[in-house]
Amino acid sequence: MWKFANPIRHRIEETKWPTAEEAARSLLYTPVKIGRLEARSRTWVPAMVPWRATEDGFVTQQNLDWYGRFAQGRPAVLVVEATGVRDIPSGPLLRIGDDRFIPGLKKLVEVVKEASGGETLLFIQIIDFLSVKRRPERAKYFQRFLQIREQHRRAVAEITGEADWSDEHKLRNFLLNASDEVVSAVLDEREREALDFGYRERVTDMHLQHIRELPRELPPIFAAAAERAREAGFDGVELHYAHAYTMAGFLSAQNNRADGYGGSRENRIRLPLEVYRAVRERVGTDYVVGLRFLADEVIAGGSRVEDARYYAVEFARAGFDFLSLSKGGKFEDAQQPKVGQAVYPYTGQSGYECMPTVLSDEAGPFGRSVPLVASIKRAVNDARFTTPVVATGGISTFAQAEEILRLAQADIVGMARQALADPDWFIKVKIGRGNEVRRCTYTNYCEALDQAHRPVTCKLWDRVNLDEPGIATVDDGRRRLEPPAWG
Ligand SMILES: Cc1cc2nc3c(=O)[nH]c(=O)nc-3n(C[C@H](O)[C@H](O)[C@H](O)COP(=O)(O)O)c2cc1C
Ligand code: SF4
Repeated sequence: MWKFANPIRHRIEETKWPTAEEAARSLLYTPVKIGRLEARSRTWVPAMVPWRATEDGFVTQQNLDWYGRFAQGRPAVLVVEATGVRDIPSGPLLRIGDDRFIPGLKKLVEVVKEASGGETLLFIQIIDFLSVKRRPERAKYFQRFLQIREQHRRAVAEITGEADWSDEHKLRNFLLNASDEVVSAVLDEREREALDFGYRERVTDMHLQHIRELPRELPPIFAAAAERAREAGFDGVELHYAHAYTMAGFLSAQNNRADGYGGSRENRIRLPLEVYRAVRERVGTDYVVGLRFLADEVIAGGSRVEDARYYAVEFARAGFDFLSLSKGGKFEDAQQPKVGQAVYPYTGQSGYECMPTVLSDEAGPFGRSVPLVASIKRAVNDARFTTPVVATGGISTFAQAEEILRLAQADIVGMARQALADPDWFIKVKIGRGNEVRRCTYTNYCEALDQAHRPVTCKLWDRVNLDEPGIATVDDGRRRLEPPAWG
């Protein structure tokens, strides 16, 4: 994980919680319109992948328990984890790329509606991602993966002074045993990256037909996924245009595609808008369609808040029902993975900005993205749109949430890790028992589990009451999968 050079350890300060009467009078607990729906309050649990689906993407009992447990806390909106829109294997991540996934998702909706007494709106985040391979063993890379080109032969001939490298086997062996310096001189930048980090596709790989075809392929795929979400009973869909994934790749200032879908901001937003229109056409105007995108990519040459402001206005103009903001979470600055592991987009500085910890700079982790979100909301409102804007990132107290709303920096307040630490936050605060909230310590034990593709839990509760009868556990009973019941 990326760290500041001289980090300051921020404390989780005591906070004043409202009485039930104060909560009832607060902005946080006032309703807000989201499309044709009304959320009962301005509380929101953003998408979090818990690594609980089956290997082929179906909803499991553990998924049902996980979302049911969040629903017991009665947030106004709960967003189901990034769920793949294609019908391709993607490990234990939920999928919605075929009708066979609908029954499981339907069950998930039922569980949440029941557990929240119908109080929680349930959206599902739908995602497309490109291929990311694990970092290869050096021998495998040179003996099997590297596609030998004439340029490699020429470069090696130049370095060694030996003219004939037509024997591919000999060339591969030479590279396998060559120094780092020689390897760098022979491979191009992408080949070097594939060796050091694992091969990773980009939306700008125009030499690949399936990448060239993305603008034609993706709108119907997203539209079909959204239609399935509607059929399963979700209250809405959130198009995942954030972090390290395909649609964020189109929005990125690094996207220089020359086919009308890259370069200028207008071109970069073209496909995200075409996907939206295809989705809207399929699900109708009475269904909630929102999105998540980045207030700042936090990478060199990436999109900044000026881009995000432009995008936000265009997304609002197009008719999106909510705009949920995140920050960073990119592959470009991620740390080198170990051999056999895949690069994880939350290990660089952009990853830090996505899920900031208490080891921070002076600004600290709490509400770190709020100034950016506020400027984005202002741009949307100045353009005379009232599309609700969701702020997330290091928000954990009522005072913080209320201040954000009072200053009109956002319309809705998201809490991911705080909700994981204590899914009952929303109800506890509402009834004046905020002092019983289990406060997130923002040290990212949960994120480390996500990185290792292990079932996500929170260190504040996963070893509590392990002998409770009937609970689900992992790691030979050493971690419970759901927080204990409150009271
Ligand atoms: C375990 C874990 C999984 C996450 N999965 C997703 C995801 O599927 N989609 C997404 O947009 N963000 C995901 N996030 C990011 C969160 O939604 C949120 O933006 C981030 O944690 C910062 O908010 P917080 O400070 O309230 O935790 C994930 C975060 C965590 C900790
Ligand atoms: S594991 Fe740590 S960072 Fe994650 S939710 Fe729990 S307390 Fe917060």
